[in-house]
Amino acid sequence: MIKKFDSFDEYQKAYDKSVADPEGFWAEKASGFNWKKKWDKVLEWNFDEPKVEWFKGGKLNITENCLDRHLATRGDQVAFIWEPNDPSEANKSLTYKELHAEVCRFANVLKKNGVKKGDRVCLYMPMIPELAIAVLACARLGAVHSVVFAGFSASALSDRINDAKAKVVLTSDGAYRGNKNIPVKAVVDEAVKTASCVEKVIVAKRTGENVTMKDGLDVWWHEETKGISAECEAESMDSEDMLFILYTSGSTGQPKGVVHTTGGYMVYAEYSFRNVFQIGDGDVYWCTADIGWITGHTYLVYAPLLAGTTSVIFEGVPTFPDAGRFWAGIQKHKVTHFYTAPTAIRSLMASGLDFVKPYDLSSLKVLGSVGEPINEEAWHWYNDNIGNKNCPIVDTWWQTETGGILISPLAGITPLKPTCATLPLPGVQPVLVDSEGNELKGNDVEGNLCMKYPWPSIIRTLYGDHERCRQTYFSTYKGLYFTGDGCKRDHDGYYRILGRVDDVINVSGHRMGTAEVENAINEHSAVIESAVVGYPHDIKGQGIYAYVILEDFSKTEDVLRKEILDVVTKIIGPIAKPDKIQFVKGLPKTRSGKIMRRILRKVAEGDVSNLGDTSTLLDPSVVDDIKGGALVPLKV
Ligand code: WTA
Repeated sequence: MIKKFDSFDEYQKAYDKSVADPEGFWAEKASGFNWKKKWDKVLEWNFDEPKVEWFKGGKLNITENCLDRHLATRGDQVAFIWEPNDPSEANKSLTYKELHAEVCRFANVLKKNGVKKGDRVCLYMPMIPELAIAVLACARLGAVHSVVFAGFSASALSDRINDAKAKVVLTSDGAYRGNKNIPVKAVVDEAVKTASCVEKVIVAKRTGENVTMKDGLDVWWHEETKGISAECEAESMDSEDMLFILYTSGSTGQPKGVVHTTGGYMVYAEYSFRNVFQIGDGDVYWCTADIGWITGHTYLVYAPLLAGTTSVIFEGVPTFPDAGRFWAGIQKHKVTHFYTAPTAIRSLMASGLDFVKPYDLSSLKVLGSVGEPINEEAWHWYNDNIGNKNCPIVDTWWQTETGGILISPLAGITPLKPTCATLPLPGVQPVLVDSEGNELKGNDVEGNLCMKYPWPSIIRTLYGDHERCRQTYFSTYKGLYFTGDGCKRDHDGYYRILGRVDDVINVSGHRMGTAEVENAINEHSAVIESAVVGYPHDIKGQGIYAYVILEDFSKTEDVLRKEILDVVTKIIGPIAKPDKIQFVKGLPKTRSGKIMRRILRKVAEGDVSNLGDTSTLLDPSVVDDIKGGALVPLKV
């Protein structure tokens, strides 16, 4: 078990050691885990290729470290408390012993259905215990899991299944989300029509609705597990064997399959979790993220189990049956550590304190924030009303590609400053660079955030496209990993994340590539071209603003707007629906054909007074047209 620090001084010493002797530092952290064979070499790396290998030659299985390792000491401790969508439905809980048995049983089911080490398994499921069990069952066998958030459309799911060439898909009949009943299996049926790699679909029963079960393809989870042994030896994995693929959005159209491997990811997940949250025995931790995103992978499934924690898995949404749901859950389960996204805080803040006051939140010790910058107002609301000015807020900055939290306060140890992710964790070496890649030294500087040294859970590749991985993250600035974020280092040396500097927007804490949304909009037959930018949105952080050029004016604008939203929902999913659509005659392009997004962003922000230099535009008159449109209130 990794020891956590108990003072700022200890943190600073650990930080200095991690820079002076990274290999010694991480070897010591890694030695607390169960390895089937010790590694030969702690680290080999080269950011030019890129190649990063941690604990090379080591053999392990992450599920033995999440589960088996705890059986003697924590077998009867609850690992997961499942809080269903409808609060009147009974909770379920699984002890470490029970979870171990379920994971082994389902691993045997996967085996029976043809899954072997190295095969890819796609999971498209609601937040039910079976999802966490299935993730771990894949890891038990050495199969690579690719979890796709169950809000994506059939078309987006099919793309992800095909890219990973998944052999098996795991799903459920339906899903409850708030007062909605979502036909999950029907989405999978549609997706697998265009994914011939899929040999089996295993369906968990959740809503009991009627679904079509195709002979030879679809099987029921509960039937497959009948009479199946709850013992399954853990596959021996190399440290650098692939653990999972998780698709995320980038600046170009196609989603990228971020690949994480086994040993380094495990070590960093537990190390960062314990130290950031300062979690200990008897604590109850609740991370509200969906397992379909990286936060759910690292800080809902893997890290809490590695650390032997009791955690809550929540099926529902923060506003059902009302905006007091989180606070009711904290009271009910005596939650000590609560981790959520600023967008949820802002939306609950807007609902007012009447939803907070009825609940006893005195069990809370630490609050966390993740996924987007937290604005000052939301920070104070969270601090005052939820934490009762008594719980440190850890504003954790990280990315799908980083695998774990890189910049964050350590709860109760790092002096806080609202809206600042504060300081790097030991082992993390951030640098800020200007647009030419020159390092900006000292404090009070602002630039692009890069990392100059690998940490154990850094992205290894993009599935099936190593060159794209190199280009996206390791070629912008030589010798550095580029995060895509802008960042300020203030006079105290604290890091404050300013947001993306590329064509990625962050909508309600979800990453969205503007090109991806544009491609979807362009699928509408009346659309010639579109350009999408983000704009400040009170609740979502950023909203999606689409400029659209039409070639067919036979329908009214309202009808077209609705149809465009439907197309985007069909191609990506409801999370990518533009908040505003403005029809324009042209887009501001330079003579070389590049769209000047700066202008589009300004107009979307409602700031048309100073659009900067427009003289390089091919047709400067389009700007007046766009500006004119922006002054008219937009309705979607
Ligand atoms: C943003 C989510 C400010 C950032 C874990 C990053 C944040 C992107 C923070 C990654 C934070 C995440 N403060 N911005 N605390 N955390 N971000 O891959 O722009 O879904 O690059 O990972 O979210 O999003 P992703």
